[in-house]
Amino acid sequence: MAPSLKVLVLFSGRGSNLNALIEGAKNGRGYEILEAITDNPNAEGVVRAREHSIPCKIFERKKESSKEEFKREIFSYVEQRSPDLIALAGFMQLVPSWFIEKWSGKIINIHPSILPAFPGLRTHDQAIAARVKEHGCSVHFVDAGVDTGPVIAQLKCQVFPDDTAEILAARVLQLEHRLYPEVVEQFALGKIAFPKK
Ligand code: GRF
Repeated sequence: MAPSLKVLVLFSGRGSNLNALIEGAKNGRGYEILEAITDNPNAEGVVRAREHSIPCKIFERKKESSKEEFKREIFSYVEQRSPDLIALAGFMQLVPSWFIEKWSGKIINIHPSILPAFPGLRTHDQAIAARVKEHGCSVHFVDAGVDTGPVIAQLKCQVFPDDTAEILAARVLQLEHRLYPEVVEQFALGKIAFPKK
């Protein structure tokens, strides 16, 4: 069956989740990566996209442009591409509210914690400081808050007493690479929808 769901992936850094999503598409999970988009010309993910021959659009903020203008430029471009799904994968910008209003239910994000625990940054440090027994990752719909949108799916792992943030991050990252392509596949199958209020 030809892939039907057209996915844009937005990233800012390493791009390992971008890589996992691209591999999922190549492994016939029923979706295709239209393009990878970044706000960071030096992101390692740019190399990942090129290695897989996935088009990569790079945005660079000009000195004279405000953060809002820069984001309008990026998200106007996203809109022009008419994707079926927008997957944020380590994209370090808040999605502007005008875009969320129009595209609600079609923007998802992967976050390295079992939401609602530990939103924001440095989640692995937070998990260790809180001495939790379990940690993991979540894929959720994006809403106007920071990591607050409805959770779609999660994977969990154990936290061991001698874990460092780095060791824990590596364990969680493996789960992320499993979870994200699985969720996008479920979208492609029409099995996931934004919850009705
Ligand atoms: C991942 O841990 C993801 O959950 C978070 O940012 C990190 C991005 O890593 N949102 P990578 O760029 O996908 O390797």
